[in-house]
Amino acid sequence: MERVTTGIPGLDTIIGGGYPRGTNVLICGSSGTGKTIFCTQFLEEGIVEKNEPGIFITLEERTADLQDEMLGLGWDLAEHQRNGNLMIIDAASPRIGASEGSELRIGSNFEIDALVLDIHRAATRIGAKRLVLDSIPALMLKVGESEEFRGALFRLSALLLEIGLTSLMTTESIDPFLVSRYGIEEFLARGIIVLSLEEEVSDLKRFLRVRKMRGTSHSLKNIPFEIVKEKGIVLYVAK
Ligand SMILES: Nc1ncnc2c1ncn2[C@@H]1O[C@H](COP(=O)(O)OP(=O)(O)O)[C@@H](O)[C@H]1O
Ligand SMILES: [Mg+2]
Repeated sequence: MERVTTGIPGLDTIIGGGYPRGTNVLICGSSGTGKTIFCTQFLEEGIVEKNEPGIFITLEERTADLQDEMLGLGWDLAEHQRNGNLMIIDAASPRIGASEGSELRIGSNFEIDALVLDIHRAATRIGAKRLVLDSIPALMLKVGESEEFRGALFRLSALLLEIGLTSLMTTESIDPFLVSRYGIEEFLARGIIVLSLEEEVSDLKRFLRVRKMRGTSHSLKNIPFEIVKEKGIVLYVAK
């Protein structure tokens, strides 16, 4: 099975060399647990180390805010965009569509099928291999909670499979046992990684746990990590 590196030092070993290529992994965690950083690190490493262009669909933060935040971690997304290695599809701004002078547009009424088409075009244009959708609940807010959303998510995941993109999608986890709010996400996801903040002697500590990774045997341990300036996520894996 071909593997795609995660971009997180130490994590590849835990899941047997990386994500199975073409898989779809759900990144769960409440606000501030590091989901956006985790996903960006995946794209950053793909672009810088593996020559694998990426697509970032942002629904919670505008492109400019995302660029600013990630610059603090040493990742220059704007430069990747200029070099044609990264396409940010900004569905957070009032004017929906791919950013920065691109002719890609979703239109004034948000339609998930238009987004799917947009992803397809972007993937073809830059030869994308990796994709991030941040976040599913924000997408659901735009589309509305309905049967239609479910169908649309299916079409989206079918497209991703067809064009062979390895993708990460974020969601909140309210109930750690249900993992995701809508169930469907879990059903669609071939892998689940949970990020959390847990109290330890009155301090909050960050943890990562691989809950599910199809086709892979993996540890279920809660692995401590930190978010480090100019580095991103640093795992503390026991030797
Ligand atoms: N430049 C930085 N250096 C170190 N830690 C950072 C930096 N930028 C953000 N963080 C940490 O990352 C957290 C946000 O991570 P983020 O991925 O946006 O979380 P989520 O997407 O789960 O809400 C912040 O609360 C902060 O603790
Ligand atoms: Mg986020």
